[in-house]
Amino acid sequence: MKKLNVGLIGYGFMGRTHSNAFRKVNNFFDLPYQPVLKAICARDGGKAKAFAERWGYESVETDWRRLIERDDIDLIDIATPNNTHAEIAIAAAKAGKMIMCEKPLSMDGKEGEKMVQVIKKAGVPNMVWYNYRRVPAVTLAKQLIDEGRLGRIFHYRAKFLQDWTISKDLPQGGAALWRLDVKAAGSGVTGDLLAHCIDTAIWLNGSIGSVTAMTETFIKERKHNLTGKVEKVGIDDACAFLARFNNGSLATFESTRYARGHKALYTFEINGENASIAWDLHDLHRLQYFDYRDEGRVRGWRSIHVTDGDQPYMKNWWVPGLQIGYEHTFIHQVADFLEGLDNKKPAHPDFRDALETQYVCDAVLKSAKTRKWEKVSKLK
Ligand SMILES: NC(=O)c1ccc[n+]([C@@H]2O[C@H](COP(=O)([O-])OP(=O)(O)OC[C@H]3O[C@@H](n4cnc5c(N)ncnc54)[C@H](O)[C@@H]3O)[C@@H](O)[C@H]2O)c1
Repeated sequence: MKKLNVGLIGYGFMGRTHSNAFRKVNNFFDLPYQPVLKAICARDGGKAKAFAERWGYESVETDWRRLIERDDIDLIDIATPNNTHAEIAIAAAKAGKMIMCEKPLSMDGKEGEKMVQVIKKAGVPNMVWYNYRRVPAVTLAKQLIDEGRLGRIFHYRAKFLQDWTISKDLPQGGAALWRLDVKAAGSGVTGDLLAHCIDTAIWLNGSIGSVTAMTETFIKERKHNLTGKVEKVGIDDACAFLARFNNGSLATFESTRYARGHKALYTFEINGENASIAWDLHDLHRLQYFDYRDEGRVRGWRSIHVTDGDQPYMKNWWVPGLQIGYEHTFIHQVADFLEGLDNKKPAHPDFRDALETQYVCDAVLKSAKTRKWEKVSKLK
């Protein structure tokens, strides 16, 4: 096994999921590479050191530029807020580093295009952490669709509901609250949550041609956590949009952080000519499947418990019937990335794939302003 030295930037929520994935991946998957936790980078040296000790990083940096300059780092992993992705990724690519970057790729399509150009020129392996593709039940959905079991697709229906920003007293900006600050996040639920739904949708059902959207910012002003000033809120608190896929199917997408009672209700349903499938993040190891071609007397929705060895990724885990969870999607992502380095079949989604999602987000936000149908830019 070849060693692959990882330099992680950001030790928050995603810093932990990624570190866990790098540490565990070789315990469960036979791979040509072994990630080595070489360095953690964060601005607060003390906290970074504590993180390094907990997770086993060999060293600490407090400036990501210094991390990128280091000869002993092969892969830069970007787990920082959205407004930092482009600058870090571009510098890392120019330094010849492999890059794994958190989603959304960029603040908007224009910024994403620049990232894709630089990455292409540098020719470095790259991937974006749209991890839901690697929930075994979601990967099984992809297999069933690719096998043609659903037939012609008519409908795609996705939603991602949360309820954590309802209080008007919640500040915007700063640690953990950067998602409410448009300067750090780029957008609200569109780039944060719908981006996941869009990535999965494009993967399962192909490109989206046009959209029409509505957004709302329910709380118009919030105190900024860093400046203490009450400032206008620039993000979308809620977004719903209609879409037409290029394969002729119709879609509805909805996301909000104001759905009281819901924490992370990501669901999708796809209705085809012969069969339908449905999935729910709160029950992530199950795929609901209805096949019209079943014998009438026993026809009905099946709830497939995706835990058997012949189902995606599951042969690498426990015994049939025992389920896995959220953190495993990140382990699968690292496994596929490392596998792709040697077999010359790079894993997806790469930066270019993630740019397509960015284009859909741009069209959604534009349509919410113009109140018209907007075309989605095509990947070049
Ligand atoms: N794939 C997913 O399901 C998923 C889930 C959550 C977040 N994300 C994405 O991951 C990224 C990070 O989100 P999070 O939830 O981990 O945020 P977080 O607030 O928990 O952590 C962000 C980290 O970045 C650090 N940071 C910020 N600016 C920095 C800088 N200039 N240099 C070094 N470190 C810096 C912060 O100190 C913190 O450690 C975002 O782009 C977000 O959209 C993806």
